[in-house]
Amino acid sequence: PETISIQELANRMAERAVDVIRLLMKQGQMVKITDVIDADTAQLIAEELGHSVRRVAESDVEEGLFDTADTAEELVSRPPVVTIMGHVDHGKTSLLDAIRKANVVSGEAGGITQHIGAYQVTSPLGGKITFIDTPGHAAFTAMRARGAKVTDIVVLVVAADDGVMPQTIEAINHARAAKVPLIVAINKIDKPDAKPERVRSELLQYEVQVESLGGDTLEVEVSAKAQTNLDKLLEAITLQAEVLDLKANPDRVAEGTVIEAKLDRGRGPVATVLVQRGTLHVGDIVVAGAEFGRVRALIDDKGANVTEAGPSFPVEVLGFNGTPEAGDRLAVVESEARAREITDYRQRQKREKAAARSATVRGSLEQMMS
Ligand code: GTP
Ligand code: MG
Repeated sequence: PETISIQELANRMAERAVDVIRLLMKQGQMVKITDVIDADTAQLIAEELGHSVRRVAESDVEEGLFDTADTAEELVSRPPVVTIMGHVDHGKTSLLDAIRKANVVSGEAGGITQHIGAYQVTSPLGGKITFIDTPGHAAFTAMRARGAKVTDIVVLVVAADDGVMPQTIEAINHARAAKVPLIVAINKIDKPDAKPERVRSELLQYEVQVESLGGDTLEVEVSAKAQTNLDKLLEAITLQAEVLDLKANPDRVAEGTVIEAKLDRGRGPVATVLVQRGTLHVGDIVVAGAEFGRVRALIDDKGANVTEAGPSFPVEVLGFNGTPEAGDRLAVVESEARAREITDYRQRQKREKAAARSATVRGSLEQMMS
């Protein structure tokens, strides 16, 4: 049910909270300034104080943001979005680095510098692949809990000298819960004590059956250090993506997800966004979570300014008025007024949730004290 705190209600009417409390007491309700009341009561109080009430519901705010379907003719193939997961020290970062470096065309010096937490490479089979760098397991879970599905394929890195470990199992469970296919990268095969066969049989215990054991999970033996079989891994990803038949409509207003966001001293709020549908343009008015802005610049993974970004394309977005949060959905809206309406509402929701949380904490503290 919709609720509002006394403080927030008073603020919105520009009335004193004591007057609100007094009115409620007249009606026999004993309340404190931090208490929340239901929307109907709030409306009565507001009308009693001579205010007209317009209630904005979640549905008014979200309507039209994410729900329009695309027709089959509008859909065009898009690159797969890949997240690398696995146990600590099994070589996730090394593998990402090796793939990126191996993929840099000579002469493209700036290509090595990674500016954002996501980047694209070209598969030996043609076509692009988008890698997301950041999501640790916690971020992956948080994003999934918030309904943000960004990953199409999980590459599960298992070190051949160490085998299946707790976070390997966790990653398998994450991928399964998100219904995202796995590709197993058995890493560190350059090591003398590498036992890739053991990894394969250990994975069986967790119902991951790789192709060489008759299953349907693609597997590649790699070495990030020796740069072995990186092409094979990219090929496996492309093959898996073909099976998934990934498509999106590039000719519509953009939607996407914030992968990470920070406040940069010189540039202001900077959000790394993965565009998932449509095309994002410089000048668009965007909403992400409780923040909005007009896109001032878009910067790709090589640090170059671009004027637009289509499906599966990761870009840094400059121009937000505040810093959104990782996992926030991004949408383009038609006007700044609309953007304000949506984000004002979400800011209020956030404040009220925070107030309700601290009230609960206070309540339980008081109970503990008494
Ligand atoms: P966390 O981010 O801490 O979970 O680790 P990670 O999975 O990103 O592993 P990282 O890439 O940092 O590698 C861990 C260690 O393994 C480093 O010392 C790497 O040099 C080493 N390493 C990674 N890949 C290979 C490989 O293919 N062969 C060998 N011999 N060493 C590797
Ligand atoms: Mg790492």
